[in-house]
Amino acid sequence: MIDTLRSVLRFRRFESDADRRRLATAANVADLRGMAKKRLPGGVFDYIDGGAEDEYTLAANQQAYRNVGLRPRVLCGLSDVDTSATILGRFAPMPLVLAPTGFTRIADPQGELAVARAAARAGVPYGLSTLSTRSIEEVADASDSVTWGGGGTRRLWFQVYTWRDKGLVKEMVERAASSRYEALILTVDLAVLGRRERDVRRGFSLPPKIGLDTIIDGIRHPAWTWKFARSEPIRFANLAGSGANDGTTAVDLAEFTNSQFRIDLSWSDLEWFRSIWDGPIVVKGIQTVEDAVIARDVGFDAVCLSNHGGRQLDGAPATLDLVEPCRQAVGTDIEIIVDGGSRRGSDMLKARALGADSVMAGRTYLFALGAAGELGIDFVLDLYRTGLHRTMALCGVSSLSEVDRSLVT
Ligand code: GLV
Repeated sequence: MIDTLRSVLRFRRFESDADRRRLATAANVADLRGMAKKRLPGGVFDYIDGGAEDEYTLAANQQAYRNVGLRPRVLCGLSDVDTSATILGRFAPMPLVLAPTGFTRIADPQGELAVARAAARAGVPYGLSTLSTRSIEEVADASDSVTWGGGGTRRLWFQVYTWRDKGLVKEMVERAASSRYEALILTVDLAVLGRRERDVRRGFSLPPKIGLDTIIDGIRHPAWTWKFARSEPIRFANLAGSGANDGTTAVDLAEFTNSQFRIDLSWSDLEWFRSIWDGPIVVKGIQTVEDAVIARDVGFDAVCLSNHGGRQLDGAPATLDLVEPCRQAVGTDIEIIVDGGSRRGSDMLKARALGADSVMAGRTYLFALGAAGELGIDFVLDLYRTGLHRTMALCGVSSLSEVDRSLVT
């Protein structure tokens, strides 16, 4: 009997690192989200997880991927499967871009530094947010501190919100150029802030204000609270010393953006950005075919179909549903990046089959960061890459250039 038992008992070796231990039980992004939900204070989790108003658009973004079926092809005599792609004209090991997300340090004190290092190891571009909690320069250094996993040189993009103070924008863009950022992302869907009702209910501010409810929430999430209390205060790192509120005093995001950002931005502003920036410019926040065509005509280098992860205009279309009509309308002259709703490697294949060049993801890496820190991001990027590899093999394609509309229903 002892022999029988010995042959079936298999104990996992004890893993002393808590993040690794947790990751050993995760299989997908939904698991990471569940772990982040347990570990992060409710207000922080809801800020990351939530969307605008009834969250119809938030749900639609994910549902659109579920609505697309795959058509497996067999006996294709594959010799190899290559997941690499071209993003902004340059090699990438997979068609994925990490989205700019504000206040990343609320998920983990390493924040944007962890994201930049993980992106660099995986060789994928990362767009740093204007409202980041680590500065342009710190993030560039973090990216350079690890071995770059893609071809050529490291790839950081800088996301720009158009402040009323043009001098501030110019200065940040110049800093991004000095730190060798590759591209600008101009986010255009935030003329005013969407109404995120989970944040409204909680009176959520950034950095989170410490009140009785936060203290109770903090006690219920001791690991997060301990890390948060031991690390330096969360600030808008790119604004430090600029005279603008850098988050030293907690801000209500709606009031802050509505008072600081320009509502009068128009297509002609691209010219000004061209005068201060030599590299590629991606326009993020395109949500109709008409605007995709204008974006191409005025000379943007790439269109990022995005509804800000369902956080701005509730009722806006799911971004994946825009890919095919936009590709048909803009032709092949301009790259299309589709943001929002992806959760798996197979989603990259679906997006490619419909006509996108690459996928952009934000929440997925924030869940991973909240669940298991920097290791969590490595884990999720590996899930995306291996998931794409497996899906390509099961669909009988050896390279992304072979992926076309016939692979999806
Ligand atoms: C900031 O960009 C946000 O969506 O909260």
